[in-house]
Parts: sequence; structure tokens; C-alpha cells
Amino acid sequence: MEPETNNLKEEPSAIDTRPSKIVHPAQLGGTVQVPGDKSISQRVAMLASLAEGTSKVTGYLNGEDARSTLRAMEQMGAKADFCDDALYITGVAGQLQQPEEPLDMGNSGTGTRLLSGLVAGAGIQATMIGDDSLSARPMGRIRHPLELMGARIGLTGDRGTLPMMICGGRLQGIGYLLPMASAQVKSCVLLAGLYAEGKTIVVEPRPTRDHTEKLFQALGIPISIKGLEISIEGYGKEGPRFKARDFVVPGDFSSAAFWIVAAAARPGAELVIERVGLNARRTALLDVMRRMGASIEVEVTEPDGDPYGTIRVRGAQLNGTIIEGDEIPNLIDELPIISVAGALAEGKTEIRDAAELRVKESDRIAEMVKILRLFHIDVEEKEDGMIVSGPAKLKTPDVAMDSHGDHRIAMSVAVLNTFSDAAITIKNVDCVNTSYPEFWQHMEALGGRVE
Ligand code: S3P
Repeated sequence: MEPETNNLKEEPSAIDTRPSKIVHPAQLGGTVQVPGDKSISQRVAMLASLAEGTSKVTGYLNGEDARSTLRAMEQMGAKADFCDDALYITGVAGQLQQPEEPLDMGNSGTGTRLLSGLVAGAGIQATMIGDDSLSARPMGRIRHPLELMGARIGLTGDRGTLPMMICGGRLQGIGYLLPMASAQVKSCVLLAGLYAEGKTIVVEPRPTRDHTEKLFQALGIPISIKGLEISIEGYGKEGPRFKARDFVVPGDFSSAAFWIVAAAARPGAELVIERVGLNARRTALLDVMRRMGASIEVEVTEPDGDPYGTIRVRGAQLNGTIIEGDEIPNLIDELPIISVAGALAEGKTEIRDAAELRVKESDRIAEMVKILRLFHIDVEEKEDGMIVSGPAKLKTPDVAMDSHGDHRIAMSVAVLNTFSDAAITIKNVDCVNTSYPEFWQHMEALGGRVE
């Protein structure tokens, strides 16, 4: 069957002024430090903004998502200054101010969903808006628990989507069984729970990233964790009281994932990644790469907060594997690049239980299936994943590819093409700035050729 190509072909008549990059085939390897973790940066922006006093933050992600969240916190009374490679945030001691303008969350799903919990708790009214991709993402998943707690949430987009109007205050603690494995929804409820009367309990169906819980613990916020049940004693409508402190944001494992796969799937390639976050609920990609045959060594440092350390990768001819169940939330953002590893591996690589991928910055199942097919890779699309058969003899398509505004799709195509036979043009690459502005420079520093 002919691959579906309509979304990916260049419109011959339209002049496209959006930035693009040309990526050539190359072997990647060497040493790299990736920028700050996007999930942790945004949580630190929110919590330092709520604290009493000034927090010094090092390693804060200088990417669009982290900036949108920080700007929103400034609109609600926090002060933020970048000085000598550090970010200083002076908090509002629990008392968020009503913003005068809508909070423009750009592309940030994490910022939107987590902040909706805080705004609902703080008893202020706010409107949240975002870019086209964010405005297509489901927000009913946070409206439901927040309304159970007593907030009013208006979703005025077409299908339970942004713009979102939040009117909160006087929340009650609830017991909430999350209907999906989502760290964003879990964190939204926990942040709202800071302002609630009584206890808020969240139960996860599967373990998801626990940066919010680790930061609460580091700040002395009363949280208790028993397996998949997390509870927090609310401070009530006056809001949480905790002191500012220093935060060190490690490198983003999800950004490192592109280089990990680039090296792991190339026999003989060697790569070292330094000072990268190694939270156990983020690093399932390392287990997958080991299972597929790569050699991976890790040195971990366990500070008060999120662990970080060094990863050493030695590449090999990979073999296919199955990725499913509890592993999925712990590599959810890495699945596009894992599908690339699957194309290079011997045999079938099957991704199951990953329907959440369809509601990320783009429908990442559909987009990756289309892209892999254009490279002549045998892939079967499933409702909740895909089956990729390899090793494929890659053939760069003679059409430009469009990221569709999804940073992880743009970066996955770039790495995929380093294994191919000719240069490719990737259009609409501004989105890479949401999580990894230095991506193209780092690709060159690791031996890639980018124009
Ligand atoms: C995130 C959680 C995940 C992940 C996203 C960041 C977070 O989303 O895909 O990139 O920071 O909590 P879900 O909670 O929707 O799974």
C-alpha cells in the first residue's frame, strides 16, 4: 500500500518562510551536556514562585516552554531575574495575584495542566491560552478533578480544549483515582491540594514521573507516598507556606534520548552524556536499549531531589523488543525516537499500551508511522502503538518533512536521517526551541552535518 504522504509533502505553490534545517547522514558520538530538564524546570518555576523569599535556580531550561511558565508566574506576582547563569525567583508566599492578561502558555502542556491546579487553588480567576498544538490538546482530564474539588473550569475550545477559564478558591481535598497514567494530571491535583481544606489523595494506575513529589519533599511540604497512592495535607485557602531554597536542575533525559539512540543503534559508536537527570521514572529507555543489545553504563549521584549523573553508551547492531505496560509512562516522550531504533534493529519492535501518544504535541503514532514509511521502513500502525520491522535499508525521501510543530518529531527525523543515504530538509523546526534550543549545535558538535 502507498504510504500516506499528504501532510508531509511540500506545498508547491506556497512560499514557506518558517525556519528549516538540512541534516546530512553522519555517525554521531562524543561527549555532550544537554540543557535543563523541562519537567523539573517548570515545577521549580511554580514552586519557587510560591515560596517565601528568593530561590537561586541553576540549570533552568532556556527553552520556550520553561519561559512561558515562568512568565505566567511573573504575571501572578513572582519576580524572576537571570543573572550570571542563574535564575533568581522571588516568591509570593502562597498568595498568587490575579493576572491582568490571559496566561499565554505557548506550547506547554505541562505548564498549562500544572498551573491550572495552582490557579484553581489560589482563588483567583485566570484565562489560559496557547499555540495551535496546545489548543488541540485535551484539558477535560484536569477539569474533572478540579471541579470535584470545587473549582469552576470553562473550556471554550471546540472539544474540551483551550482557551480555559479558571475560577477557584475554597477547594476541598478529594480522593482521586487517575483515569490515565499522567504525571501532569497527578501534579495538577497535588498542586490544587496545597490550597485545599483537608487531605487530597491521588492514586495512579501506573507509576509516572515523580518530580512534583520529590520537590514537595525537598521543600518540606507534607506529602506521603505509599506505592501508587500519594497524599498531601492541604494548607487551606491561605495557601502553602514554605521557604525559598536553591535548586539545581539536571540535564533533560528526554533531550539526551536522541543522542542515546543515535549512538546505541550504530555499532562501534561511543557517547558520554554528563550531568543528566536519572530519575528512575524517566529512564526506561536505558532498559530498552540494553534489552536491544546496546552497552550502557550509568553513574548516579543522589542529591536531595532528583538524581543525576553520567551515561556511557556503546553502540551495537540492535535487536527488536516489545515495549508495553508499566514501562510506557517512563519513556512516553522517548517513543518517537524509540521507533527510530526499531527501524534500525533486527526483527520486530512492538510498542503497545501507548495510546496517550496520540494526544501529545501531535499525534505521535500517526506522524512517526508516516515518516518511517516515507523512509521505506516497514511499519504497522496500531491504535495504541506500532510494530516496526527492521533492519531497514533507509532511503531519504525526496520531499521535505514537516515537524507539524512537534519538537520531538523534528528531532527524531533529524536523528533518523543521520542513518540514511542523503540529506533531508526538515521544515518548521522552531518548535525544537520548546525543549532543546541547542539541538542543532549539539548535533554538529557530535559529528553531524547541519545546514
Ligand atoms: C510531563 C508528563 C508527561 C510528558 C510530558 C511532561 C510532566 O505528560 O509526556 O512531556 O512534566 O509531567 P502526561 O502527564 O500527559 O503523560
